[in-house]
Amino acid sequence: MKRLDDFRMQMGRHELVPIMIGGMGVDISSADLALEAARLGGVGHISDAMIKTVTDRRYKTKFVKAKQALYKYNAESEDKSLVKFNLEHLVEATKLHVEATMTRKRGSGMVFINCMEKLTMNAPRETLKVRMSAALDAGIDGITLAAGLHLGSFALIEDHPRFRDAKLGIIVSSLRALQLFLKKNSRIGRLPDYVVVEGPLAGGHLGFGMDWAKYDLATITAEILNYLAAEKLNIPVIPAGGIFTGSDAVSFLEMGGAAVQVATRFTVTKECGLPDDIKQEYFKAAEDDIEVNEISPTGYPMRMIKASPGIGDGIRPNCEAYGYLLDANGKCAYVTAYNRELLAHPGEKRISVKDKTCLCTHMRNFEIWTCGQTTWRLKDTSRRVEDGSYQLLTAEHVFRDYQYSTDNKVQLPEISEPA
Ligand SMILES: Cc1cc2nc3c(=O)[nH]c(=O)nc-3n(C[C@H](O)[C@H](O)[C@H](O)COP(=O)(O)O)c2cc1C
Repeated sequence: MKRLDDFRMQMGRHELVPIMIGGMGVDISSADLALEAARLGGVGHISDAMIKTVTDRRYKTKFVKAKQALYKYNAESEDKSLVKFNLEHLVEATKLHVEATMTRKRGSGMVFINCMEKLTMNAPRETLKVRMSAALDAGIDGITLAAGLHLGSFALIEDHPRFRDAKLGIIVSSLRALQLFLKKNSRIGRLPDYVVVEGPLAGGHLGFGMDWAKYDLATITAEILNYLAAEKLNIPVIPAGGIFTGSDAVSFLEMGGAAVQVATRFTVTKECGLPDDIKQEYFKAAEDDIEVNEISPTGYPMRMIKASPGIGDGIRPNCEAYGYLLDANGKCAYVTAYNRELLAHPGEKRISVKDKTCLCTHMRNFEIWTCGQTTWRLKDTSRRVEDGSYQLLTAEHVFRDYQYSTDNKVQLPEISEPA
């Protein structure tokens, strides 16, 4: 019986353990988590979502305060189109996070950065170009293009000196999305170095409609593998979404996947950026406690734990400080929904906005608990300790479990010594 460790992913001259820990926004896939994946010979991701908030928290910068002060005059306004990102600060923050991560890298694996196109930041092209270029300048091993079709993203960095040497990949949820990407980029003469195929059971935003349950990862992966073989395109394919055990992973590698991308099992590790009390919410969640809803202003469905405090909250939009989801016209679906509720409930101190959420504020404060569909199984991957809480795992433990387990088994951690 095969184990995941019987396989290797070849990416250029790199031979990797075929485990990629997916990007999880606003520092859930922390540098510590990504670095563990690299140390163990796989691939880890940091994320550039809300990068200025991340550097303020991690490296004591003051980017958010500075932006808030600059646009303070606009806080009461319904119109957020004036709120722009300072591109120099964006470069500085990105470089800081990437450099600080890469200088600590050990082992034979790699660290990539997850770049979501949906973070449109009131100037989609300019900000995305700066984000990707700064990450390349700062020595990131690769960039995973996420949350969007990214039809113009390669063109934004084609003149960068590292464009052909850094690893560049894209996340798709359908063959159609991959075909569009390849067609749009054929002029550039550079294929992606890998394609992550993200199915409907993943965490974060989904590349499906609310009919996500009709789709399944193995079918989409097979379609994409067949297409690439027919076109004689040799691009590593990396399935993602709902791969919970080493045996699940092996089944995808046996069908031709080059590696797997996993995330949910790492949300309850010590290295994960979620606060420890929220990791307990992930452990405790039952299957019924998880939903896919449409409250994200991005327009993509998103999976989360129903008890997330951000759901239904009617906080005043804080685009002056954040504003990562303002589109090219300076609009965000939450701002629109908030203004509508404000108008409908004049004079009320606290309003509730049910159909959209202020994703920037709530992701920043860990109040939207996005998660994969298999989150309800996390309780079976650990032990309960005396006070009833679950023992946090180490990233190494979960990584090794994927790498070496067979028979759909999950190895429980050693019993930890009481603190
Ligand atoms: C808490 C959490 C946050 C996530 N955030 C992002 C994100 O910011 N960008 C992204 O491309 N994918 C995101 N994802 C998706 C993962 O990178 C990954 O592809 C997927 O969850 C893998 O499926 P699994 O969680 O069932 O292992 C997130 C997943 C989780 C669980």
